[in-house]
Amino acid sequence: MKILLATSEVYPYSKTGGLADMLSALAKTLARQGHEVGVVTPLYGSILKKYPEIKKMDWVLELPLDWHQIQGGVYTLEVDKGLTYYFIEQEEFFNRPGIYQHNGLDYPDNPERFIFFSKAVAHLAQFLPWKPDLVHVHDWQTALVPLLLKHAQGLGLLSRPIPTCLTIHNLVYQGVFPAKIFALTNLPWGYFNPSGSEFYGNFNFLKSGIVFADRLTTVSPGYAKEIMSAEYGANLNGVLSQRVNALTGILNGADYEVWNTSDNPALEQPYSIKNVATGKARNKELLQQTMGLTRNPRIPLFANVGRMADQKGMDIMIPALEDMLAGDIQFVCLGNGSTRYEASTRELQSRFPHKVGLFIGYDSELAHQITAGSDFFLMPSRYEPCGLNQMYSLRYGTLPIVRATGGLMDTVVDPNESSTQANGFKFSAYTSQNLARTMIRAQSVYYSATTLKNMRKNAMQADFSWEQTARRYEEVYKAALGGAGLVGKESA
Ligand code: ADP
Ligand code: GLC
Repeated sequence: MKILLATSEVYPYSKTGGLADMLSALAKTLARQGHEVGVVTPLYGSILKKYPEIKKMDWVLELPLDWHQIQGGVYTLEVDKGLTYYFIEQEEFFNRPGIYQHNGLDYPDNPERFIFFSKAVAHLAQFLPWKPDLVHVHDWQTALVPLLLKHAQGLGLLSRPIPTCLTIHNLVYQGVFPAKIFALTNLPWGYFNPSGSEFYGNFNFLKSGIVFADRLTTVSPGYAKEIMSAEYGANLNGVLSQRVNALTGILNGADYEVWNTSDNPALEQPYSIKNVATGKARNKELLQQTMGLTRNPRIPLFANVGRMADQKGMDIMIPALEDMLAGDIQFVCLGNGSTRYEASTRELQSRFPHKVGLFIGYDSELAHQITAGSDFFLMPSRYEPCGLNQMYSLRYGTLPIVRATGGLMDTVVDPNESSTQANGFKFSAYTSQNLARTMIRAQSVYYSATTLKNMRKNAMQADFSWEQTARRYEEVYKAALGGAGLVGKESA
């Protein structure tokens, strides 16, 4: 199959979170399984400097945004056999320090930026000489592509039907903008109605994708069910329920070529399942040193790495830690995002300077070092479509402590579910007391050498490799190809 993947971020070229990891691994695995894969992504500021092997194509884009004509370019890199990247260049839109925001504020022209990008994706899908069979788009930033292609097809502008698949990595980020932004699409206003792109008077990018893509997926079976409910549906559960037969929940994989403990340039002290106790002890010592904590192997070390956003449960984690830090524990935190949560973690650090290590910012090496050197990884998410950090921490023998939601529910086994298979800890009701109680359960496991050893072994043996996941996408692509043009008439 010839598959064109479109994404606003992809590792290692650009990344704010798991979306970037997911795209790079999906593309690589599909290509290894014999497909021809193209990845389209914006050419952000520093990419060319870091990857001078990326070459400009002889291709000038000239795409309308309302009555403006916007020019852009296409750069390319053949990364592997069957895997080609296409970078969309547009100086003004993409040559900036951030991907979506600067100093915690979204760029005000994000709708222009991602309408332009989506138009470029649709253009490549139509005119790339290798003629992709299908386009797979991700999240709100590229969710307009299915509509752009459907419309072109309706006008008879496509030489062949190009079916589309939309993956929802996070239903809460929808790309909602005032109605007047719709003019930038140059699409007929007939699409701007409640059964199309409009949502309560606004223009909703993600909803457009949900309505017009041939197939929909989301990143775990648990989240696929949750988003049908009012609690997790972010007001789109009604729209989603009309497309329930087109939706599949596919658990992401983890890229063990990047996230492993035995062959990892970020780790000074590699280890494996054979020497996990000593390997982790050495990594913990190094981490305690780097983060300015008391160097003591016997104190359980809890960690958190991630975007500091409401989604991630920071509002229950901080009070739980305030209680727990009165006892003998340590906490290491790496993240950035909301100024409120940055401030509350800073305050925690100043109250417990030898027990809390904090780095506000983005640092991928440190993310590996924290995952390797800590004993427990905290992910008390309010909601979590899949979550990759818990999969990474499992592979590093660092037991995840998670709220039972979305992909966290699907990947972590609590001792209360199976004493022999347990690989982490779960709690359900979203309260700081529940999180603190679960941390206490983890602490008692920490002091019971045999249980700790068995749980670490289970964790490191859990296998979320990508081969299986990519095969599930292949099935979805086949369904999309089989049913192209049958939106609304799909069968299960
Ligand atoms: P999400 O995509 O919701 O942010 P995931 O668990 O799926 O959550 O993926 C998060 C990814 O982003 C992981 O690879 C994690 O290591 C990385 N990450 C998030 N914040 C940071 C940070 N501040 N520094 C380094 N890596 C980070
Ligand atoms: C989103 C979700 C996260 C998921 C990632 C990759 O960022 O918040 O749960 O793991 O996408 O699919």
